[in-house]
Amino acid sequence: MNTHRLIRHLLVCAALPLCALAADKPLTVGFAQTGAESGWRIANSNSMKNEAQARGVTLKFVDAEGQIKNQFAAVEGFIADKVDAIVIAPLVETGWEEVLGRARTAGIPVILTDRNIRTTDTSDALWAAFIGSDFLAEGHKAAEWLVANAGTRSKIVELQGEAGSSAAQGRRRGFIEVASKTGKFKVLETVVADFRRDKGKQKMAELLKKHGREIEVLYSHNDDMTFGAIEAIEEAGLVPGKDILIVSFDAVKDAVKAVADGKINCTVECNPLFGPPVFDVVQKIISGQKIRRTTYNEDHVIDASNAAALLPTRKY
Ligand code: AHR
Repeated sequence: MNTHRLIRHLLVCAALPLCALAADKPLTVGFAQTGAESGWRIANSNSMKNEAQARGVTLKFVDAEGQIKNQFAAVEGFIADKVDAIVIAPLVETGWEEVLGRARTAGIPVILTDRNIRTTDTSDALWAAFIGSDFLAEGHKAAEWLVANAGTRSKIVELQGEAGSSAAQGRRRGFIEVASKTGKFKVLETVVADFRRDKGKQKMAELLKKHGREIEVLYSHNDDMTFGAIEAIEEAGLVPGKDILIVSFDAVKDAVKAVADGKINCTVECNPLFGPPVFDVVQKIISGQKIRRTTYNEDHVIDASNAAALLPTRKY
């Protein structure tokens, strides 16, 4: 190890007491992705892969296919491979203590991205940094939009994302916190559709069958489920965006277009392009620089007032 590497190594080890000995080679980073459930997710995976390539980082990419056991196994594999850092987009919030404890023992820094986790140990022992979205704030924004724009409509059905994920929990809780203050809204039913278009369609068709024209608002935790629901709404002979007000999340390009076309009334942005900030933080950790532990996206609300203007520059 040359002098520069030795100094860097000592700095890293000061920040991470059990860090592995950094070798004189390009970085290898393991990324445990949730799956490929949505357009948002594909954009997120591409951002990570493109940024790794641009920086000459070897990326070991594992798609957990929506299964938490696969994601835990991916992290175990990265530890066995002695990667320089592990990045995780956690499928669910809980159950991470054991595997992250093993990464810590191996001296491998863990960076959480997109979604957060809940552990009893909240010190920086289990993970070094989080770069993602503030889902509670997103839920607040969606509810604030609805409060301002619902008019006389008050009866809501909710399509929920992956149960146990911080994305679904935050969007649900944030929405209820704001909407319940008005005393006006009623959630007729909440169903889980896993952030997937096919399930969004299936669940919305069931909800329409059960509640019919009582449904005045669809609150859907992502654009993919929303697109599926729109198909079901149209097949039921109703007009999305008019007969049923639609509030969604992500703001992928097609959804922004659907807002401009009046099929979706509002989509709260959730930027998936985490590649650059994630690899910035990985490189800072490896070179022993100070990092900010938690960094949130700044997400905007997109509705009829700004959708058309945003479309030409939409990156995902
Ligand atoms: O965690 C972010 C959410 O996960 C996105 O809203 C959704 O599209 C994705 O699958």
